[in-house]
Amino acid sequence: MTEERKTVFSGVQPTGTMHLGGYLGAFRNWVALQDEYDTVYCIVDLHAMTNPTDPEEFTTTRLETAKVLLALGIDPQRSLLYMQSQVPQHAELAWILGTLTPTGVLNRMTQYKDKVARGIPANVGLYTYPVLMAADILLYHAQLVPVGEDQKQHLEMTRDLAERFNNRYGDVFPIPDPLIPKTTARVMSLTEPTAKMSSSDENPKSRINILDSPDEIRTKVRSAVTDSEPTVRYDLEAKPGVSNLLDIMSGCTGRSVDEIATEYESRGYGTFKDAVAEAIATELAPFRSRYRDLDNTEVARVLLKGALDARQKAELYQDQARRAVGLGKL
Ligand code: TYM
Repeated sequence: MTEERKTVFSGVQPTGTMHLGGYLGAFRNWVALQDEYDTVYCIVDLHAMTNPTDPEEFTTTRLETAKVLLALGIDPQRSLLYMQSQVPQHAELAWILGTLTPTGVLNRMTQYKDKVARGIPANVGLYTYPVLMAADILLYHAQLVPVGEDQKQHLEMTRDLAERFNNRYGDVFPIPDPLIPKTTARVMSLTEPTAKMSSSDENPKSRINILDSPDEIRTKVRSAVTDSEPTVRYDLEAKPGVSNLLDIMSGCTGRSVDEIATEYESRGYGTFKDAVAEAIATELAPFRSRYRDLDNTEVARVLLKGALDARQKAELYQDQARRAVGLGKL
């Protein structure tokens, strides 16, 4: 008898820049997990609408996000890859889960508070963002969710919602576990190393994009904020910039932070930064060339097929949820 494979679900917002933080914190795991699990990867375009963009630009960005994921090694033969907006069950389940979500819980979500503090309009979509995220995960009865550290609170809320639903309506949803890497779970901004690297940072020098050229990478790493004591050592409090670069280099090479720190300890920041840039460029090089080889029409076809398969799979599960709450056939 074959044991049933666990389901992995994760999502990414098509916001225009896919960066090294997302890669080291999440996407690298997405690729690796394809061998062992049933993997479902979703481009969460409905979530991205909480940060308004020009419709034409948004259409392009949605496709580009899919291309980067394919270039990174997401394999449509082994994974379901699709656009959230093309599978209507996500929004339907979000509504059902919303009826179980106390507003007090949403008021405590740190990402919501941070975004509003940064001036993003505090609309209902932004407020209920984590409920839609819980629906994404629970829709496929996912057991494992590979994400970076910043999504931890949303995952905790998802687990609570699954429990709340199961307590009220009977056991429908498995309780999903986050899969957060031990290192590089939180890659920091190059220009402000106490804040996470983020696609919404206005300063493009704050992040390395997955498709950046080696020259762009070198320029950005050279201008990364460090400190005035020119010793390369790991100290998050006193040397957050250097520590971030050490983490990044370790993430890109597989070498330990200690080993790298010892090698570059007294060789000066210039030499160290060039080595970091080189490590990043080497890690990202294959993705740039694979991205260039992708054909837009073919990628759109892959996404359409993904959406059809995802809808079918989602509908089977959704029917269970509908019947559980009393929305089944009359
Ligand atoms: P998003 O699009 O912001 O980021 C995609 C993934 O990259 C991770 N990540 C990072 N990891 C380490 N360091 C960083 N600086 C960094 N920046 C981003 C994120 O943790 C994420 O895993 N809410 C999600 C999208 C989403 C989702 C879901 C994820 C919607 N529904 C269901 C999992 C399951 C988000 O905004 O990711």
